[in-house]
Amino acid sequence: MTGDKPSHNIDNQNGESGSAGRLEIDTPVVTDGPELYRITRDSAVLDVNSSYAYLLWCRDFAQTSAVARIDGAVVGFVTGYIRPDAPDTLVVWQIAVDASQRGGGVAGRLLGELVDRVLARGVRYLETTITADNAASIKLFTGLARKREADLERSELFTADLFPDAHLGEDLYRIGPFAVAPVIAAGS
Ligand SMILES: CC(C)(COP(=O)(O)OP(=O)(O)OC[C@H]1O[C@@H](n2cnc3c(N)ncnc32)[C@H](O)[C@@H]1OP(=O)(O)O)[C@@H](O)C(=O)NCCC(=O)NCCS
Repeated sequence: MTGDKPSHNIDNQNGESGSAGRLEIDTPVVTDGPELYRITRDSAVLDVNSSYAYLLWCRDFAQTSAVARIDGAVVGFVTGYIRPDAPDTLVVWQIAVDASQRGGGVAGRLLGELVDRVLARGVRYLETTITADNAASIKLFTGLARKREADLERSELFTADLFPDAHLGEDLYRIGPFAVAPVIAAGS
């Protein structure tokens, strides 16, 4: 199993939300699945997949996903996968932060850590889909492109008429290429 130890520790800067805990960005483990399901359901925005899907994701796609913990409790997550037809592209499937922790940079840190992790696997682009009414998510991903000095292209992907249920159209956001930090040789 992967993710037995934290990938990184960073000070929590969510002072405004009153949390005194330490924010840790980690690789998910199977026992995180129920929390991913809960946060998704409580978001009242995201499509809620089956509880099984989140367990499976934490087992099989842990290396392309991340969880945010404060004092060990999951307060946010991002799930993703490498696109089989495009091995240089990370698709972000879902990202959500517990309502109590929003606005403090948790999602930005989740995305930043995940992008840094997959760069080593040759990933240079990120794709995600966003509905036009999701201002927070649009801000989050445009902010990622800005901070990484990467291009951002938006196009229609799944239009509303494709969905068999009531669902807004999903626009594709493609960000990249990401720069790979230059390796500084010892002694130079
Ligand atoms: C979208 C979401 C994950 C953002 O999480 P977060 O931890 O609050 O985001 P951050 O604090 O890292 O902020 C990221 C950026 O979004 C902006 N932002 C955050 N909440 C916002 C809001 N409600 N309205 C507008 N902008 C917002 C921040 O100012 C920041 O912008 P910057 O990088 O230019 O400074 C969170 O709002 C959420 O869980 N929403 C419900 C689920 C969802 O919609 N997921 C995305 C589906 S595509």
